[in-house]
Amino acid sequence: MSVGVGDEQASSVARYAVIGHPVGHSLSPLIHRQFALETKQALSYDLVQVDAGDAQDFNKAVDAFFSDTGGAGTAKGLNVTLPFKEQAAAWVDRLNPAAQLAGAVNTIRRAADGSFDGFNTDGSGLLADIQSNLGWDIGGNRVLLIGAGGASRGALDALLSAQPKELVLANRTLSRAEELIAQIAPAAANVTLCAPAEVEGSFDIVINATSASLAGQGALVPTAAVKGARCYDMLYAPTQTVFSGWALSHGAIWAVDGLGMLLEQAADAFELWRGIRPATATLLAQRNDLFAAKRAGFESLADWFASAEYLQWQTATQTDTQTNAQTDVQPAPEREKRQFIAGAVCPECRAVDRIVVRSTSAGREQACVACGFSQPAPGAESAPPSDSALMLPQGKHERPASLANNIDGATDRDEVQTVRFIDPQTTPSRTDE
Ligand code: ATR
Repeated sequence: MSVGVGDEQASSVARYAVIGHPVGHSLSPLIHRQFALETKQALSYDLVQVDAGDAQDFNKAVDAFFSDTGGAGTAKGLNVTLPFKEQAAAWVDRLNPAAQLAGAVNTIRRAADGSFDGFNTDGSGLLADIQSNLGWDIGGNRVLLIGAGGASRGALDALLSAQPKELVLANRTLSRAEELIAQIAPAAANVTLCAPAEVEGSFDIVINATSASLAGQGALVPTAAVKGARCYDMLYAPTQTVFSGWALSHGAIWAVDGLGMLLEQAADAFELWRGIRPATATLLAQRNDLFAAKRAGFESLADWFASAEYLQWQTATQTDTQTNAQTDVQPAPEREKRQFIAGAVCPECRAVDRIVVRSTSAGREQACVACGFSQPAPGAESAPPSDSALMLPQGKHERPASLANNIDGATDRDEVQTVRFIDPQTTPSRTDE
């Protein structure tokens, strides 16, 4: 699909794609097409499904993508997803330092002379989400990284570059953790490793880089590790991930999924290709729309917003809202007077300016109108201690321009997103895809 050009210009369009096996689940086409619209870049972005997971098939598919000009435009770059990141590192002509260290490439760029550069933007994407979007400090803090597979491989060096006081790497198979440290940080004095069950003490930040949530397993480490911690799951899903739910129910003060990392690594790739960095904040706040558009099979968010399905979805969610209002203790008119907490960020979906304070039969609570997440308001009878106030304004968070005027009152769009969008058929996806 081409964005930002007419058909007659299609042959001059730069072509990009994400390649993997499987790849149908990927949100990358929706994300990059939106970036292209926002930055007014004429390009196409598609899915390239490799039939089988072996290296030969991958090489053939990449060769074909970059050699096929066929009037459709010049192939300029690829995002590479599972299970081919290591194979991609072998395919390119040169590796940037992050890709060299990780031994894995998630972004390929065709150079002017026809050769190919390989980059790894997973680590920088994770760091940008944790530090810039969420405003969590890694420097000087105690960090737990769980898992030693592909996701940790991209993350470890980036996390260490932010200078944590200590980084504990916990993995079920200890030898894999040892190999990872030997490869990425052999001389780091602040890195220790252990089995997940043997993790000791409390942490400021806990990052789940395992695929255990995909199997429904959230309890990976002793609960003391997540109590009072900010928890990050490198998986993402339309609803709370298993690990996030487990962490929050064991005293974590934040728990978020990895959609922000997915967006940031995509923005890094886009910038490498196009020389212009797209903003990610608006898309982060539109996460329900991203998942809904993907589920309904739309090729772009613009198509989704213009569609009959979107209107039906609006109507359905409004109906749900009315139904809820009838059974809720809270009468409907009260809902319309809700006060948004300016600048507050939802710990679950990270929507900005979507947090309201409301009264329920159980007391006052803070709730996110974007995803439905709620918790007792600080000061409420059942509220956690004040350092657990999950939804305080985050000064470092960039506020999407599209939301800037909506702080003091509900708009039609607010009503659309009042009900949590639950898609039971959608399974979580790995952020490092
Ligand atoms: P890769 O990321 O290289 O594809 P993976 O097999 O998907 O690797 O595993 C990713 C990580 O999740 C690994 O650290 C793995 O632990 P092992 O190295 O011990 O296999 C971890 N993992 C997967 N399922 C898990 C589970 N149920 N409990 C704990 N860790 C798990």
